[in-house]
Amino acid sequence: MKTKKLIIGNWKMFPVNAKDAKAKFVAIKKVASTLRNVQTVICPPFVYVSDLKKLVTGHRCVVGAQNSWYENEGAFTGEVSPAMLSSLGVESVIVGHSERRANGETDDVVSKKVAAAIKAGLTVVLCVGERERDQDGDYMKLISNQLKSALQGVQKKDFNKLVIAYEPVWAIGKHAVRAASTDDALEISILIRKTFADMCGKDGSCVPILYGGSVDAKNAWEFLLKSQVDGLLVGRASLDPKVFAEILKAADTTK
Ligand code: 13P
Repeated sequence: MKTKKLIIGNWKMFPVNAKDAKAKFVAIKKVASTLRNVQTVICPPFVYVSDLKKLVTGHRCVVGAQNSWYENEGAFTGEVSPAMLSSLGVESVIVGHSERRANGETDDVVSKKVAAAIKAGLTVVLCVGERERDQDGDYMKLISNQLKSALQGVQKKDFNKLVIAYEPVWAIGKHAVRAASTDDALEISILIRKTFADMCGKDGSCVPILYGGSVDAKNAWEFLLKSQVDGLLVGRASLDPKVFAEILKAADTTK
């Protein structure tokens, strides 16, 4: 049976007020709720999660989170716990985004966060990706090490609570060096499957893989068709409901 494409909008630290956040979500939901072959998840800043959750109707367009801490409560000023997200009815959380790693989040912290989020019943969207590509292919080793390190506290029986997002740091955001090619993404989706196969003894195809980094209405379809990925993790383009709607519609047509 064909599974749905998973399209996640990571809103990062946008927009500046709740009114805009709600308007964007409503506009996205209007299109997303008509698409049978796509599961849409919007990950807004924490302060909008409750507001947007109230606007959810049905299952096709839901709300996720951008981060969570590795304890469920305690003296951790400014952090939000997986149990708190779970109690709001949030079902998924992004962990290990490169923008957080760039601000000091270590592999060790990422791995604790992954384990805690899964324990709290959340699906983890684990981000991996290299800062730059070297001629010798060392970036492949780095990515597989990131994966193994992040998953060291996860039991095999919980691998179905994982989504892996490949986000090459050099292809993210307005300072991207260049857009990644579909072959760049294909190479790493194969690597991720192989790494899973090594870890769990199966073919690794059970774990959904997303591509993220300068996805737009023009290239979304190509990544989905040519890179053997199950969905996309979209930054900037997810903040423009019209552009994001084009991405969602493109995903709906890929077979
Ligand atoms: P852009 O789509 O803006 O390049 O961001 C990608 C990203 O970091 C999504 O998590």
